[in-house]
Amino acid sequence: MADQAINVLKRAGAVMIVSELILKKRDGYPLTCSDIEHLIAGYVQGIIPDYQMSALAMAVYFRGMNEEETTHLTRAMVNSGDTISLKDIPGVKIDKHSTGGVGDTTTLVVVPLVAAAGVPVAKLSGRGLGHTGGTLDKLESIPGFCAELTLNEFKTAVKNIGAAVAGQTIEMVPADKMLYALRDVTATVESMPLIASSIMSKKLAAGADGIVLDVKVGDGAFIKDHCSAFELARIMVETGKMDGRQMAAVITNMDQPLGRAVGNALEVEEAVLTLRGEGPPDLEELCLTLGGWMLSLAGKVSQPEQGKATLKKLLDNGAALLKFREMIQNQNGDPLIVEDLSLMPRAEKQVSVKSRVEGYVSRLRAEAIGQAAMKLGAGREKKDSLIDPVVGVTVEKKLGAMVKQGDILAHIHTGPEKEPARNTGIEDHERISDLQNMILSAYEFQDEPFEVPPLIIGDIK
Ligand code: URA
Ligand code: CA
Repeated sequence: MADQAINVLKRAGAVMIVSELILKKRDGYPLTCSDIEHLIAGYVQGIIPDYQMSALAMAVYFRGMNEEETTHLTRAMVNSGDTISLKDIPGVKIDKHSTGGVGDTTTLVVVPLVAAAGVPVAKLSGRGLGHTGGTLDKLESIPGFCAELTLNEFKTAVKNIGAAVAGQTIEMVPADKMLYALRDVTATVESMPLIASSIMSKKLAAGADGIVLDVKVGDGAFIKDHCSAFELARIMVETGKMDGRQMAAVITNMDQPLGRAVGNALEVEEAVLTLRGEGPPDLEELCLTLGGWMLSLAGKVSQPEQGKATLKKLLDNGAALLKFREMIQNQNGDPLIVEDLSLMPRAEKQVSVKSRVEGYVSRLRAEAIGQAAMKLGAGREKKDSLIDPVVGVTVEKKLGAMVKQGDILAHIHTGPEKEPARNTGIEDHERISDLQNMILSAYEFQDEPFEVPPLIIGDIK
């Protein structure tokens, strides 16, 4: 029989089975492990078309998946591509993952901090898309820093200095790339099992023995309510455990930007300050909390609280900063930036945003600040947009702060007057005043002082 005919028959067979699997999920029955393997393998090989996968994603959106199904889906996605083995690196290797926040500088601090405590950290990171920045973009604002390591270089770095942050070079979890693009255009992103399997497949493929998840909830996060955040955290922790990994999740508030800086070089400076023990208190607290859990999963301490105390000492005695210096040097960056921040590239111009009213800051919408930073050129509006490492926003007044009329709320860090960072054709003063208004609109005020909600909402192990 001609190859073409065989292909047609294969396709006909696949279509028939697939429609039955869609029907099964549509009517609320669980899919088996082999159903799920068949679906993912067929989709990645191009045998199952987008329209069927879309229908299935929508059925999962409405019907959900139980823990076994979610674990099978995660596993099938991991099996769709290459995976990393860290077995030849001694010690319990720990990874961390944040579901994404505005000005989330934690990775830059936590990786050297935990490595300084003797726990190897192998962290694959991505580039930013939209208003949440990517760790690789941030690191590449350090003069000379190379975030593109081969797999061998990456592992060697973890072996030799105990820490590396790099982009992925091998083809991991292609199923997620395809599925995520499909979900994005079929209104099926906001499904707990689909989010959990998307995140966990990438984490499991990266090979760490233990994983600490930072599940963000609030204005700047894609999960807006506490209940869903705990639910997502629980599903991901269970999925990781079923795969034999040490797991913990911390649920954290993302109603306002983390720390003060939003922007690439600005966040590196903020990370260095934090590693010197001079950082914003919220960022330091989150780094110590996540790091405490990482030490606990690695078996270095019996309780995360104990880990926090250990790590605080490493901030105070300079060991964490020294580890960051080593990491930078190992990846060809200028190590002197940790001692002299003026060696970091900086924007030519700082424009202040002043309050027009008096009161206590009652809201500081993280998403609006993130959008302003993106408009400045700190993030990518499209996948192939170029980012400007030096631009961004620093917030001077955060939730609960008392503000008088004319007080500086934030600074805009931007390019020179004559050359707008983005070639929009809009006059520069108009561009700046739009940005100022955007930042002002992120703020709300009230007359009475109030208690600021805690940053750390809870945890799940
Ligand atoms: N982040 C991911 O990687 N996947 C999702 O589905 C949602 C957030
Ligand atoms: Ca920050």
